[in-house]
Amino acid sequence: MMDFSKHIDSVVFKAVAKQVQELGVEAYVIGGFVRDLVLGRPSKDVDFVTTGDGIELASKVAHSLNPRIKVNYFKNFGTAQFNYQGLDFEFVGARKESYSRDSRKPVVERGTLEDDLNRRDFTINAMAISLNGNSFGQLIDPFNGLHHIDIKLIKTPLDPEITFDDDPLRMMRAIRFSAQLSFSIEEETFNAIAKYNERISIVSKERIVDELNKIMLSAKPSVGFKLMDKAGLLPHILPEMSRMKGVEVKNGIGHKDNFHHTLEVLDQLSKKSDDLWLRWSALLHDIAKPLTKKFVEGQGWTFYGHNYLGAKIIPGIFKRLKLPLNEKMKFVQKMVGLHMRPIVLSEEEVTDSAVRRLLFEAGDDIDLLMTLCEADITSKNEEKVNTFLNNFQLVRSKLKDIEERDAIRNFQPPVSGETIMSTFGIGPGREVGIIKNTIKEAILDGEIHNNFEEAFQLMLKQGKELGLLPKNQKG
Ligand code: CTP
Repeated sequence: MMDFSKHIDSVVFKAVAKQVQELGVEAYVIGGFVRDLVLGRPSKDVDFVTTGDGIELASKVAHSLNPRIKVNYFKNFGTAQFNYQGLDFEFVGARKESYSRDSRKPVVERGTLEDDLNRRDFTINAMAISLNGNSFGQLIDPFNGLHHIDIKLIKTPLDPEITFDDDPLRMMRAIRFSAQLSFSIEEETFNAIAKYNERISIVSKERIVDELNKIMLSAKPSVGFKLMDKAGLLPHILPEMSRMKGVEVKNGIGHKDNFHHTLEVLDQLSKKSDDLWLRWSALLHDIAKPLTKKFVEGQGWTFYGHNYLGAKIIPGIFKRLKLPLNEKMKFVQKMVGLHMRPIVLSEEEVTDSAVRRLLFEAGDDIDLLMTLCEADITSKNEEKVNTFLNNFQLVRSKLKDIEERDAIRNFQPPVSGETIMSTFGIGPGREVGIIKNTIKEAILDGEIHNNFEEAFQLMLKQGKELGLLPKNQKG
């Protein structure tokens, strides 16, 4: 018998042990906490299962720790939760069935610990540690979860068809755990995912995206996406990505497989950045390639405007997946829209004005854009890769230079609309826009510096061309 008593030595576990004794019921630590304990990963939540009433146990334990602890009760689910010293503790009565079919409505039928473990998702999540009397600290592992952690295996405790039927989100969870932990999915379990993949459609988008984001944030996200593809889940979740698969050949000329290229970019980026939304930008950077693909005689395959179209179709994808339609989405749109710019720039001569324009458009996101674009270089040709990366270095150092000279990053017009109107004694109108734009363009082209004096002089000159005279010179 494995003894974990040393690991569950804190006051909360002891308080639970004391209360169950008084109530004459049993309780166990269960699920993710036990798995993470074995894996040596930190956990933020601890789940308890009791053969008694979860709500009653939670309230008694919380009260014994500190009567002021606020306990949250979820009567419909028969669960209760409180936070203590930065950890979340959740209590539930053991159940016979975890979820009813086709909905998330739980069937709250009392069960034994064995019943409860039976209806959990994977063997590695179906282990419990006793908090009861003499067996305090002992591991209960009816499905060999410990061994499966050892051999790095994701496997359902019951027939996988039953486990996935209980909650189809578990198909995504299998892939997520596999990606996060570098575990493989046992064959029968994987085959069941492939067989029932379309059942994912009954699961809410929020829950799917939660798993998708965990895959995105794993060390090598391509692992999860390849599994989703292989299991046939991807077309139900991100059909646009599935459409990037494959290579078309015409007149003996092919193009990159954009699905694999995208995953390579995502992996390369993930080595450099943990930013979830930059990772989403990598995933979606070429999403409009299939829509813009054209074979041009003498030129080969082209994808003109795929960056702009990509930025345009992102809101539809975010809306469908119930991803946030806020500045995070705008950031992804901006990255996708601009992702060709540094490449084009570094292919041509890296002029100051081109760099200034890039800085103007990317603003504070310029460093993230450069990181994305560097990850976008996936050629097998080492020489080509080095040329690109060297050019990017040049772009980066020019960016730094220009930033030191001109404040372009968060460009604010040095002469305001109010100044233009009051100088010429005019109201809002077309002229104000023309003058402001002339000043902006002159700064970006390096014709004038980004300061009030030079901008004011240019304003006067441009005003004259428009037939405007300063108020104080009007006769
Ligand atoms: N569980 C399950 N089926 C689900 C979700 C959860 O059987 N669809 C069970 C598993 O035993 C799991 C436990 O409930 O270990 C807790 O679930 P949750 O807190 O969602 O996930 P964790 O497994 O703790 O993993 P993570 O914290 O990484 O999300």
